[in-house]
This record gives sequence, C-alpha cells and structure tokens, in this order.
Amino acid sequence: MVFTVTEAQSVDLTRIRVEIRNLQSRLVEWRRKLHQKPELGFQEQLTAEFIQQKLQEWQIPHRTGIAKTGIVATIVSNSPGKVLAIRADMDALPIQEANEVSYRSQHDGKMHACGHDGHTAIALGTAYYLSQHKDNWNGIVKIIFQPAEEGPGGAKPMIEAGVLHNPEVDAIIGLHLFNNLPLGKVGVRAGALMAAVECFRCQILGKGGHGAMPDQTVDSIVVASQIVNALQTIVSRNVRPLDAAVVTVGELHAGTALNIIADTAKMSGTIRYFNPDLENLIRERLEAIIAGICQMHGANYELNHWQLYPPTINDSAIAELVRSVAAEVVETPVGVVPECQTTAGEDMSFFLQEVPGCYFFLGSANPDRGLAYPHHHPRFDFDETALGMGVEIFVRCVEKFLSNKSC
Ligand code: NI
Repeated sequence: MVFTVTEAQSVDLTRIRVEIRNLQSRLVEWRRKLHQKPELGFQEQLTAEFIQQKLQEWQIPHRTGIAKTGIVATIVSNSPGKVLAIRADMDALPIQEANEVSYRSQHDGKMHACGHDGHTAIALGTAYYLSQHKDNWNGIVKIIFQPAEEGPGGAKPMIEAGVLHNPEVDAIIGLHLFNNLPLGKVGVRAGALMAAVECFRCQILGKGGHGAMPDQTVDSIVVASQIVNALQTIVSRNVRPLDAAVVTVGELHAGTALNIIADTAKMSGTIRYFNPDLENLIRERLEAIIAGICQMHGANYELNHWQLYPPTINDSAIAELVRSVAAEVVETPVGVVPECQTTAGEDMSFFLQEVPGCYFFLGSANPDRGLAYPHHHPRFDFDETALGMGVEIFVRCVEKFLSNKSC
C-alpha cells in the first residue's frame, strides 16, 4: 500500500543530519503500517514479523521470539568498544480508534494510542542508520524491541532471557513520545522520571442484614467509606511533603438494594511514588489503616497489594549524555525541559535497575494540527516530525557514548 506522506515539517530540522531527514518519509511509512496493525502485549506477531523483515533486508543480526515476541538486533561497529542498548516498546492498547485518518487501526478494538508504533519506527530508523555508518563509533549497539509494556510487562522476561548479557550492556537509553510536551522539546532529568506503579484490591467482610436494623449487622459500606477517607492521610500525613505520591481508590462496589445492609464491599486502587524508600511506608500504612478500621467495627478484610513497575530512575551521567545530545537537536536552551516528571509508570524501570541508563520524553504534540490528545485517548495521534528527531537523538547518543575520538 502506498502512503501519502506529509512532507511539510512542523519544526526546523536543520539540526538533523541530511541522511536522517531523508529517512523521514520511510519512518512515517513504517509507523503508519504499524499503526494500522496494532497488537496487544505478547501478541505482537505481525509487528515482530515487520521488524524482522526490515532487519533481514538490512542484514542486521538479530534474535527473535524473546519473551514471546521480543527481538534484539545487534549492530557491531568496525572497532571494539562499549555496548549501548536502545529499548523500544511495540505493543498497543485495547482502545477503539476514533481518528478518521488514512492509516487508522484496522484491528477492531485495538489501537496504538500511546505512540509505541512511533517508538518501533524510531528504533528501526536508528538500526538502519547505524548499520550504514559503522565507522562513526566503536563497540556494539543492541536494539531491544520489547513486547507488552502496557501490561503485563515485557521488560522483566526479556531481562530474565539474558538480553543485557552476551555481550554485557554498559548502558541503556530509551524514549517515549510525549504529547504533554510540544514538538521540539525534550524532557530529560537525572533521578526519577516516572513513578512506581502499585495496585491493591481489598474486600471488606462485614455482616449483612436489614437496612432498618443496623444494630444486628456490620455495615461493610460504612467500614469501606471510612477506609477510603483514612487512606487520604497516607499522602497528606505520612509521606514527607517533599516526596510526591498518589493513593487513588478507583473502584468501590457494595450493596444490592436500598434497604439491605451489604455484607461485603470491594475496593481497588493505584499507588504511585518516585522515591523507592516509600515502597514499604505506603504498603505498611495501607494495611494498618484497613486493619485498624476493620477491627474497630468488627469486620474482616482480604487485601492484595502488588507492585507492577518500580520507579523509572535515570543515571545522572547517562541523563547528562542525553541532555547534551538533545540540546544539539532541539532549540536550545528552551528545547530541553529539565524537570519533566510524570506519575505514569514504565517497565523501562526494570532495565534501569540492571544497568545505568536514561529514559526521556520526546515532545510530540502539535495543537495547530490537532495532534494534542493525551496518551491512551481514542483520538491520540502525534506529530510524525518527532520520528526523525528521535532517530537523530539516538544516533548522536551512540556516537557520543561509543565515541571513537581519543580524549
Ligand atoms: Ni507508552
């Protein structure tokens, strides 16, 4: 299928080298092909086939089928050196696309609504460029195409499958297209960029009865309501005010009729924080509050609490590498947003627990072109000019980190 690719660029791309600018229409074509065939986590068969086909075409050695659908491409330069990994996620979301574009999703109920199609296209463009320019750097670049970032998480099984070994990865970088920032801006910081994601489910076990005779019951709705209120004190009274955290109760279900006291109430919620020290504090307070209020009322409870992803924490030296490189690609100094953080989470965090690295945001919103819907929205789309910028930043990071210039 032939795509009509908009040639007009939304920002000045003179800082991006000509060869990468010339790749732009192919980046857009790849991204749109991937966009049309979105696949959910660990089901990225067509996506993996597409990546594999490109890597074969470019004669880039690669391993497939890692953590089901993951792929690792290995590009070896012409001289020995360190090993830098670049990670791209490739999964889509269970959302019905509402955009009326020529490249809209052809898979009912599935959509690339987070931009991972763009991440895959950027990683492919980077692989292609690096494979054509092996004299500009030393060592090895591993490109990790990871499944299932949106859940249940493909990073951990890829790490367990050994993608950071043989050869050992010295550092890792990755990016997320980000509609919270306009095109032409890059969000990068040392330390925590994204929050830990934890989940809990709790069932309050009271004693049901007649709505007119509460004295004969343990009202699970009253107990649950007090718990919802008291949980708000974790952030306001227990967490150090300079540490950001979130405790959200997102679901509360109880009762069947207006004159019946419900014997059980179910609630669930999400917890976010940046400082890893808060993991135990919040966990302990959550259970203490639930246990205490249940005990006060003579109710019982069942609580499940688990961490989905740890906080995404950047190494300061690698963050500085990305910052310095981004400053060459986007308008400086306004283009680099130093204190960019979000309470969303990422399983890039597992890679960053293993090796020093940096995850960063590449601004992709363009309100003038109607491209500013938030991630995970059925009308999400981004300014594809960001694709070439992403490739340029990755390529410059490789050339700087794996520099063959003697210092
Ligand atoms: Ni995402």
